[in-house]
Amino acid sequence: MTPGDQSLTVALESWFANHARDLPWRTEPRDPYRSLVSEFMLQQTQVSRVLEKFTPFVERFATIEALASAAEDEVLAMWSGLGYYRRARMLHKCAQAVVEHHAGVIPSDIKSLQALPGVGRYTAGAIASIVFRQSTPIVDGNVTRILQRIHNNPSPQTDKATIQWAWAQAEQLADCAHNPGVLNEAMMELGATICTPKNIRCDQCPVRNQCLAFDAGTTEQIPPPKPKAKQKTIYCASAVVRNKAGALLVEQRPPEGMWGGLFQAPTLEDSSRQPTPEELGALLGCGPADLRERESFTHITTHRIVQFVLYSCIQTELPANGRRYIPEPELHTLGISNAQKRILHSLDTITQ
Ligand code: ADE
Repeated sequence: MTPGDQSLTVALESWFANHARDLPWRTEPRDPYRSLVSEFMLQQTQVSRVLEKFTPFVERFATIEALASAAEDEVLAMWSGLGYYRRARMLHKCAQAVVEHHAGVIPSDIKSLQALPGVGRYTAGAIASIVFRQSTPIVDGNVTRILQRIHNNPSPQTDKATIQWAWAQAEQLADCAHNPGVLNEAMMELGATICTPKNIRCDQCPVRNQCLAFDAGTTEQIPPPKPKAKQKTIYCASAVVRNKAGALLVEQRPPEGMWGGLFQAPTLEDSSRQPTPEELGALLGCGPADLRERESFTHITTHRIVQFVLYSCIQTELPANGRRYIPEPELHTLGISNAQKRILHSLDTITQ
């Protein structure tokens, strides 16, 4: 049987109808706004992590208008912990563009969708096909891997040529599908649950008998392992500073770059060496003797190794210096990375 014909799409669509996970954005009919939020959240992030954040987010911002008119800080706060915070800012801008240019109605055609901030070919294809049943393909890492295995294509998964090839294959399949959105979601679901990178569960695969890699016994080798991303090391010194009322001193990071726009304990960073207590004191307006080294930890992301040294400050009258003191119970209203949450909450139990 040649992969790519209708028997493949029929098998995938009927498998999805019976095996789709029950996820909070999979309402029938699909709600365009909830789908938009979920697709932004799912970019580079696993379903299990999105599940924790999705419902509180759409409860707080129940409509696209509510999201568009919210303050960016609040959007970042509701996104806290999901990482890749640029997506939150783009989603916010996207909601504003839908309200401004489309009277609050998410457009259904791929061109208008792709013109929205933060909406690339993948997200536009997901909304157009899953919500509006348009025949458009979508390709992400899961889809590329499945197509490579079905065709026994061993090329490196992230090569431009492989990605172009995958889009062409996915387009052909979407054109064969009874419901292209169901087919697209089926491929992503199969990739997330059965045709996974490792520990592949071919015995449960609905298209095993149409998979050339399964025939050839090469599923484990496809795609070939990616060369490891080179991680850059960054050295950070952070200070937990409280005023007399116990409120914590925080600062906002610049909008672009790592953890852009998020709040943090006052932090000095350097790409070559650990900042000294003298330097941290100079940043805060106190002396090194006012700072006590408390603990160190390493935070690892795909591209960075961040080595934190954590200080407490014995001064309770430091000027804010463009920063602000925030009562601890209000910390959750700010966008704060997981690493900085750990810092800001770490000294709760330490007496100064
Ligand atoms: N990953 C991204 N979008 C998805 C979706 N709609 N279903 C399953 N996994 C996804």
